[in-house]
This record gives sequence, C-alpha cells and structure tokens, in this order.
Amino acid sequence: MIQAPRGTFDVLPEEAARREFVESQARDILGAAGYRRIETPTFEATVLFARGVGEATDIVQKEMYTFDDGGGRSLTLRPEGTAPVCRAYIEHGMHKLPQPVKLWYLSSFFRSEAPQKGRYRQFWQVGAEAIGSAGAATDAELIVLLNDLLAALSVKDVRLRLSSLGNPETRSAYRDELTAYLRAHEDRLSPEVRARIDLNPMRAFDATDPRTRETMRDAPKLLDRLDEEDAEHFAQVRTLLDDAGVRYELDPTLVRGLDYYTRTLFEFTSEALGAQSGVAGGGRYDRLIEQLDGPPTPASGWAAGVERMLLAAADLPVRPALVDLFVARADGDLAGARTAFELAHDARRAGLAAQLELAGRSLKGQLKHADRIGARYVAIVADAGHASLKDMESGDQRELEPTDVIPVILRGSRLS
Ligand code: HAM
Repeated sequence: MIQAPRGTFDVLPEEAARREFVESQARDILGAAGYRRIETPTFEATVLFARGVGEATDIVQKEMYTFDDGGGRSLTLRPEGTAPVCRAYIEHGMHKLPQPVKLWYLSSFFRSEAPQKGRYRQFWQVGAEAIGSAGAATDAELIVLLNDLLAALSVKDVRLRLSSLGNPETRSAYRDELTAYLRAHEDRLSPEVRARIDLNPMRAFDATDPRTRETMRDAPKLLDRLDEEDAEHFAQVRTLLDDAGVRYELDPTLVRGLDYYTRTLFEFTSEALGAQSGVAGGGRYDRLIEQLDGPPTPASGWAAGVERMLLAAADLPVRPALVDLFVARADGDLAGARTAFELAHDARRAGLAAQLELAGRSLKGQLKHADRIGARYVAIVADAGHASLKDMESGDQRELEPTDVIPVILRGSRLS
C-alpha cells in the first residue's frame, strides 16, 4: 500500500475546516493592521537559505530538501519564509514603496527532521514580516498581533519569552567572551556542547545535560552586553508591551535556530504541546536584506506553526456546512433526471447550498442521507413537471412544480 511519506500528513475535510478558521483569523487580525498577503515559490535557489538562514544552522546543515533541477542549478524546498520574502522584496524593488512593507503568508515549509508529535517534514506557518522599519513599535506591534492571533485561536497555556541579541558587532565580541568562558569550563560541558564551541557557542544555553546547564548559569549573558542604542531599543519594546498588557518573561539565553536575527528576539511556547513546545517565534533581522544584496533595510517578523497552534488550541468554533436543499429522485425517466440536475444547479445560482443525489440510492435511502447531511429541504423530483418539497424541520410535504421549488424555499427561509 502506498502511504503518505514519513513526516507528512493529509488534511482531511474536518481538519481543513479548522485550518480555514486559522486562515480567516490570521487574515482578519493581520489585515486590520495593514498586512497584505504574499506567496513565494515552494522552492528557491539553495544559496538563498545558505546565505539567509546561515551556513552553521541545523536547518542548512541537516534539514534542507535540496535537489538539482536537472540543469546543474541547486534548488531547495523552502525550510522557512523570511529569506524568500526578503528575496521578493529586493527582486520587486519594494524599497520604493511606502515603508514598512507589511506582508503575511500562510504557506507550507519543509524540514527533514525526525518526525514526532508537532514536528513534521512538511508543515504550515502563518508568518508576518514588516520590512523597512527600525522602530521598536514595529516589533511590539508584531508581538501584539501574534498574541492576538494565538488568543483568537484559543491556544492554551501560552508563554512569551523575550530577549535582544543586539547587533552583530557586540554579539561577536560577546561570542568571543562566551567562547573563552566555555573553553575555561570545557571539562564541565557535555561532549556535544564541547564539539560546538566554535561553531555555535550560544547553543550551550540550550543543553539538557545537567552539569552543562549548571555551568551555563554563571556564563556571561548577551543582554548584559548590549550597546546603548540596542539597550534603548529593547527598553522601548518592553515598555510598549507592558502598556499593551502583554505578559512576557525575559530570557537572556533565548536562542533560535536561524542566524539572521538582530535586536528583538521572541518565542511563544505552549505547555499543552509537550516536547515540541515552540508555537511561534520571530524577531528583528536588520541585516538580512543587505546580506541578500538588497539596500540596507531594517525588518522584523514572526512565524507561527499551524499544526502546533491547532494541537494546543481548545475546540474551535467550526460550524457544520449548511445544506439548504437536497434534490432527490423518485424513480423516473431521463427527463426527471435532467430536471433534478437543473434544479440543483439553479438553486446554487440562486445562492442556496444544494446537493444532488449522485449515488443511485432508493428514495428511502435518499431521505435518510438528506437527514444525515442536515438538509433543510428535500425536493423529490418525479419527472419534468412533478416534484414535491419536504420541509425536514416540520416534516410537512407538498406537491409543486419543479420551477416553484426555489421560490418557495427562498420565501420560506426569509420567513424563518
Ligand atoms: P521557526 O522558529 O523556525 O522560525 O519556525 C516558526 C514556527 O514554525 C515554530 O515555532 C513552529 O511552530 C513551526 N515549525 C517549525 N518547524 C516545524 C516542524 N518541523 N514541524 C511543525 N512545525 C514547525 C521561522 O521559521 C522564522 N522564519 C520566523 C520568522 C519570521 N522570523 C522572522 N520572521
């Protein structure tokens, strides 16, 4: 039997309805703040992610689906959306538009990770990017919008962790300081952390090994090393979040698996998720556009995992689909079949939700099916000139001409 590839899943109709709710909430919340939809290709030149996300990251080192396009060009299924959106910003000269350019997306992404609950090889994100503003208000607004989205979806037990990475220069000096600290305490670190001291020393804060964790408690923290402007920027973000009543915890050891971040960095987690507790994350990325050969352009954004939001969400108010009319067939001739077909079509053109019997059931079976799908009315077509209409709520049934079915229903639904 052929099955969906490992780490992927089908979105079946019931789940699709929950996802439509996510999409409509994202559209309403982000749309009201002036974010406009963007979609970029599913695959991009590999170099976009190598340069954008960072050569040393797990994503680029281990998780990308990279292939040759047959003509010697290396392409990669997008593992994330920020680098592609920046590529599009540069490619379409969006720096000429009024800034910031505020964009959102709902797209699928691909990472070759070990699948588990909440972690897939193809997954969906709602993302928002504000490109062309350096202001703290942009960061705070983005976080407020994300907070609103999570609340609208009733994502349970949400925590927000917040930090600032400063700029690449202070960060590099800090990195040296941290590396020296790690070297000085090498004998107390786990082999994995030791092996990564030069590649990615910040990852040491992520370690689960108890001795490593204890050692890291006294390690120098980046938040204490921010320069004056970055510290001021961060203080403003915090003030705006405080004013907005958004609760957060400062986490000076917060690290995220992407290299483009500068200044503000944040992550929403949900206790309801277990191991893969990251629901959404983002931050400022003031150097990325330049790194991709665009004009120096500050920017900020986030992405939220659709599957993780849904896993951590309470029951969503998904309404069952309405069926105004089910068109049934009494045993009859071809003319009756054509009349029934036409009636269902006309009903839909008149704005009704109408379904036609397509399975050759007996009349009794058709009425049972109509009841099962919650049809409000059933029209039973006998032939071109004869039909009856059954009100499934009252049980009343009357004979009428097929052409009268739609007007009667429209009048009826207006009355009720
Ligand atoms: P990220 O933290 O890598 O950030 O991913 C954002 C969210 O996508 C995660 O919090 C998680 O909910 C979901 N996610 C990530 N990997 C998987 C997976 N394998 N299976 C299921 N869900 C997953 C980014 O992607 C950045 N582009 C966010 C950003 C936008 N930063 C600035 N702008």
